[in-house]
Amino acid sequence: MTDPGLPEAASAATAATPAASAAATPSASRRIIAITSGKGGVGKTFVSANLAAALARAGRRVLVLDADLGLANLDVVLNLAPKITLHDVFTGKSSLADAILPAPGGFSVLLAGSGMVEYSRMTPEVRVQLQRVIDEVAPRYDHVLLDTGAGISDVVLYTVSLAAHVLVTATPEPTSLTDAYATIKVLATTQGRRCIHLVVNQARRPGEGRNVRAQLQQVVDRYVNPALDAPVRIELLGEVPADAAVRDAVLRRQLLLETLPGCAASLALVALAARLPG
Ligand SMILES: Nc1ncnc2c1ncn2[C@@H]1O[C@H](COP(=O)(O)OP(=O)(O)OP(=O)(O)O)[C@@H](O)[C@H]1O
Ligand SMILES: [Mg+2]
Repeated sequence: MTDPGLPEAASAATAATPAASAAATPSASRRIIAITSGKGGVGKTFVSANLAAALARAGRRVLVLDADLGLANLDVVLNLAPKITLHDVFTGKSSLADAILPAPGGFSVLLAGSGMVEYSRMTPEVRVQLQRVIDEVAPRYDHVLLDTGAGISDVVLYTVSLAAHVLVTATPEPTSLTDAYATIKVLATTQGRRCIHLVVNQARRPGEGRNVRAQLQQVVDRYVNPALDAPVRIELLGEVPADAAVRDAVLRRQLLLETLPGCAASLALVALAARLPG
């Protein structure tokens, strides 16, 4: 893998909200974890929902916020049909309390709308509202997971900037790795991130996650770290095997952890939950 260059979308808007501010503020923001990726469709929403279920099973209070504000699909995966979404909270139509719903896995969710072009870019209003909502919910939960959209748009990068920890999801495919690398580079240079947690999803054999981590670290060491004050460290949080049961669960709109808690992917997610930072 070679350096694809710093993508242009790392806008000044995100540079103005460095992760250092989230990481440095007290306890509540340390509980906020952004689940992001470069490439789309790699399993962020699947991991977010099932990770939340695993944490809930371990007795933790968890909230998942669908931060894919314009193209939400956490509701689809959880088979929920929300009457109230974050959009209603942002526009003052509904209270935050009314928008927080219980999800099947024993955790809470804040859902977003779909097909909402107004969330295709970050505006000052959305920025303030999103931060307000997160500030308000964070003290009430042990973990707040932000399930972001794919890519490095200003919406995604701003959302990630609100989290103390970032979990990059990637599959072993070269296109996913290239995009994960680009994301890590942008997060390191615009948000001062020096620790990136990696989840390798759809691993085809045990140990593939370690190889993927090593490949990404190698490129980061070569092309990103020499220009930084301190090196970026990629930590493998875990690997989740490719498992036909995942697709079936998504098609049935059920949590894998609920339907097949003993399958390989479920066990991997439970192990991952136990290693979660924060
Ligand atoms: N471990 C796995 N094994 C098999 N299939 C998987 C696995 N993880 C995810 N998938 C498949 O990938 C699909 C996409 O997953 P998901 O919607 O979670 O991706 P995403 O990264 O959230 O996508 P987007 O970028 O659109 O938000 C799932 O519907 C499922 O069919
Ligand atoms: Mg998703």
